[in-house]
Amino acid sequence: MTVFVLTGAGISAESGLGTFRDPGGLWHRFDPTRLATPEAFAREPEEVHAFYNLRRQGVREASPNAAHAALARLEAGLAARGDRLFLCTQNVDDLHERAGARAVTHMHGELMRARCTACGESRAWAEDLSVDTACPACARRGGMRPDVVWFGEMPFHLEAIAAVLDASDLFVAIGTSGSVYPAAGFVARARGAGIPTHEINLAPSDTAGLFDAATYGPATRAVPDFVAGLLGGFSGS
Ligand code: APR
Repeated sequence: MTVFVLTGAGISAESGLGTFRDPGGLWHRFDPTRLATPEAFAREPEEVHAFYNLRRQGVREASPNAAHAALARLEAGLAARGDRLFLCTQNVDDLHERAGARAVTHMHGELMRARCTACGESRAWAEDLSVDTACPACARRGGMRPDVVWFGEMPFHLEAIAAVLDASDLFVAIGTSGSVYPAAGFVARARGAGIPTHEINLAPSDTAGLFDAATYGPATRAVPDFVAGLLGGFSGS
């Protein structure tokens, strides 16, 4: 069987990485139209670099939490039984990987990667970026950007994500407000395919009414409990 898990900023909140739309969240403190669009990058690249350098530093200083670790256990536990976890995240941090997850689909890209707008080369990148950063592949300067998806750009891997979602046996959303598409539409797609759905969140999301079941509470408590139930249930089968 395949368990499809979609994660959002809420799973990294207890690691100290802010969410976007909660009180005090990133988009309450910064204007996304000035920092998270291709037009903003063309207009004020150094301001965009400063914003993402700050976020990259936050990720470097953060540690995975018990919810990230539980999903890594779920991935290993399912694989040991010949089943599969498809872990799709909207997050651009690398906390799932640092918790031990081996296959993570980043539909909004990765802050710890940089891409050259001149030659398209994408590389793992943990350091600051600036307009003077030279592309390691084509050596051009001025074109290196965080390899993340900005507003107005297409998320990555959508065809593969849809194919796996349609063939899944369970859809779980963790720590997402359900306010940004296409990810916010996954639950409706799963329901349309007759796939059971479960929401794990601090509070009901914008799409809460579409889920068959829900667990509300901090991810570091709710996710380990949920994973124990899933793996415990399987071991009994
Ligand atoms: N445990 C579980 N859920 C939490 C926790 C926590 N400790 N803290 C916050 N949450 C929940 C909030 O209740 C909220 O529903 O996490 C959700 C975070 O919602 P958003 O801030 O909107 O983040 P997200 O859903 O990931 O945003 C989606 O929007 O701006 C874009 O690209 C950005 O990937 C992001 C996308």
